[in-house]
Amino acid sequence: MNRLIEYMLPPARNSAAGETDALFAFINITSFILLAGITVAIIYFAWKYRRKSDDDVTPVITHNNKLEITWSVIPLILVMIVFGWGFTGYMNLATAPDDAYEIRVVGKSWLWEFHYENGTTSVNEMNVPVDRPVKLVMSSDDVIHSFFVPDFRVKRDVLPNRYSTLWFEATEVGESIIFCTEYCGTQHSNMDAVVNIMPQVEFDEWLEAGDTVDEDMPADERGEALVSRNGCTACHSADGSSGVGPSFSGLWDSERNFEDGESTTADENYIRESILEPNAKIVEGYDGVMPSYQGVVDDQQIDDIIEYIKTLD
Ligand code: CUA
Repeated sequence: MNRLIEYMLPPARNSAAGETDALFAFINITSFILLAGITVAIIYFAWKYRRKSDDDVTPVITHNNKLEITWSVIPLILVMIVFGWGFTGYMNLATAPDDAYEIRVVGKSWLWEFHYENGTTSVNEMNVPVDRPVKLVMSSDDVIHSFFVPDFRVKRDVLPNRYSTLWFEATEVGESIIFCTEYCGTQHSNMDAVVNIMPQVEFDEWLEAGDTVDEDMPADERGEALVSRNGCTACHSADGSSGVGPSFSGLWDSERNFEDGESTTADENYIRESILEPNAKIVEGYDGVMPSYQGVVDDQQIDDIIEYIKTLD
């Protein structure tokens, strides 16, 4: 059975995944046995009771109690097993242990933001300690997204008007993928992120260091790192090619024309405003779909990003 699970599913890295996989395998195996049995019976009966001569007449059979009870009771038992098993698993998945470490998850078109208890924030990269329950409290800034980690066997809708929760306990150090599994617009297919499962000590160190980038790097290099880490590159290219948003290349000091007919020069204030209030000014030919980075990047980081954009002429 383990070979079957390994063949069909990605590695299981959640303490509750074994239960989920076992039930999944049970449903698959019983379904296959029933499919095979029914198919063989159909073929056999079709052959056995075929019309043998021109005056063969179909017998009139009204019902058969034994047969009808059998084909009602066996499926009933199977379905009740699936229900009981599934319900306990669901209850387990729905209630996080009290000592779970809590992470706030915000889905935005089209990135994932993670806020940790000490105020640290990360984008498109969720760090979690191994062998410890982690509870995610999730909401969306715009449309409905869905948070899915195949390795953990957990998936939950992320809604704009209420919180949804989900929990897991990662069982091995490594990297797993997070997908958005609710169609949410143009860049839906690129709305993925990474879970870094790390030893508790490493996780604590990372939390302490926060998301500060290397102070020794030149400002523009720090800016470049921030732009890639915050997922900006999904929509804004650095080589002049047009994406969901305007390219960063040639942006600095250029004349920007907006949808409302206004225009301005791309200076520090314009870039700052575009990061914190992206919909204040929409560049002609684009849709106002960028989420605000208020609370994600601080002033120092905005300065670094501006320095980086200045280098892309
Ligand atoms: Cu977010 Cu699909």
